[in-house]
Amino acid sequence: MYLSWPHNRLALLLSLCFINTAPAFAQNPPQDRQKELRNMLKHDCGSCHGLTLKGGLGPSLLAKDLANKPDDYLLDTIQNGRKGTAMPPWKPFITEQETRWFIQTLLRQQHD
Ligand code: HEC
Repeated sequence: MYLSWPHNRLALLLSLCFINTAPAFAQNPPQDRQKELRNMLKHDCGSCHGLTLKGGLGPSLLAKDLANKPDDYLLDTIQNGRKGTAMPPWKPFITEQETRWFIQTLLRQQHD
């Protein structure tokens, strides 16, 4: 046989890895855009939520404070803003996919 058993096994393992990681990659904006988004988080969101996101005019966006809030609720707040409050809608500037990336980035942040 051309492909011996261990090779087949390796190919199977590799394809499984690819299947598992592909969707995660698909959700992330390109590197350049991630840089822009990180800047935006610091300067735009930071102007109200604090440069270190610990809170200011807007509430804290630290991982520990967002952890128990549903993703869809955070998504809606960021995309559409909160009427009657200072939180503006970000829909004109960031797509839904980018907003999800924002939320994941906030949730993964480490703070002391
Ligand atoms: C002009 C000020 C301002 C800016 C800029 C701003 N926010 Fe807000 N944000 C607020 C305020 C005020 C609230 C609280 C609204 C309320 O009282 O319900 C809020 C609420 C939120 C919440 C909900 C938090 C919670 O615990 O329920 C999230 C998430 C959020 N902002 C994310 C962002 C992100 C991400 C950005 C940048 C893209 C941003 N905000 C920029 C003022 C701002």
